Amino acid sequence: MKVTLTTNPKQKPDSSKLGFGKYFTDHMLVMDYENGAWKEPEIVPYAPFEMYPATNVLHYAQGIFEGAKAYKTKEGKITVFRIDDNFIRMNNSAKRMCMPTFDAKVVKAALFELLKLEKDWIPTEPGTALYIRPTMIANEEVLGVHASHKYKFFIILSPVGSYYAHGLQPTKILVEEELVRTAIGGTGEAKCMGNYAASLMGGENANKKGYDQALWLDAKEHKYVEEVGSMNIFFVIGDEVVTPQLVGSILPGITRNSCIQVLKKYGYKISERRISMDEIVDAYNKGELKECFGSGTAAVISPVGLITYQGKDMVVNGGKMGEITSFLYDKITGIQSERYPDEFGWVTEVK
Ligand code: COI
Repeated sequence: MKVTLTTNPKQKPDSSKLGFGKYFTDHMLVMDYENGAWKEPEIVPYAPFEMYPATNVLHYAQGIFEGAKAYKTKEGKITVFRIDDNFIRMNNSAKRMCMPTFDAKVVKAALFELLKLEKDWIPTEPGTALYIRPTMIANEEVLGVHASHKYKFFIILSPVGSYYAHGLQPTKILVEEELVRTAIGGTGEAKCMGNYAASLMGGENANKKGYDQALWLDAKEHKYVEEVGSMNIFFVIGDEVVTPQLVGSILPGITRNSCIQVLKKYGYKISERRISMDEIVDAYNKGELKECFGSGTAAVISPVGLITYQGKDMVVNGGKMGEITSFLYDKITGIQSERYPDEFGWVTEVK
């Protein structure tokens, strides 16, 4: 693989002040698609792309992305978590967005070369990781509304800490009662750029009122819980852990799936089913809403301490992180950091 090294390496940020997605490593991976085929991937210095103003992703948002993480263990090994699942999902997103699929084996091998080159950028403090952002954009210079004939695939890397500025402090979420993120039949289950653009207004409205994020409901009845802008959502009601089932408008989160697998293995009652706000309010009123948390690559496992719906505040578990939320946080971050054995086969060493 062709590798062009930077002549101007950057200073690495202080790993106690990383935040999320603010710093980028010295190099990135790029791979172009033209004339019906992907070219060889290349590693190049992290730098701006040149694009014509008519480049179609800038107009019609034909673009998809992924989020994964790499870690460095105490012995200095580089590992990645469930990376094959990211590439499977990305190829599914590509199909939904009329984009070409790619050979995950080729991309994974190229990513591993990039990670080895950037290994000194992998932070090791608890709660930090090197975030991997594979992205694919349509880059034909044409204004007709049709699938592009040219694409650029790239992977950038960002050393990150907690997604939320307040770390593991429980988040506050506002149920969005008017706007819609996506609908069944739409693009909700693809990780495409437009879904996130559609979620911005709800997120901004929630932020202005002092909440961290908006919780999206289904587009048809405005009744059933779907997801939060950057994470899937779980509720503990009595002894049942519930997460919305994947009906087509919800992102099939890899961390969501990890939570389900861990809960099943450790004997919890876990259901993927439709869950309405009425059921949540009813459980809250009966004292049965025990916990709520979000899951995502960036968000990891984030406790939710307040849910506001129809002007009613529901303080969950006294606004504190609950037992099942803590168990999942500990188990999943423990597997990622090799504090616990990899009993699910989720961790791959980058060699
Ligand atoms: C992730 O969790 O990796 C995401 O892509 C969510 C968000 C940061 C866009």
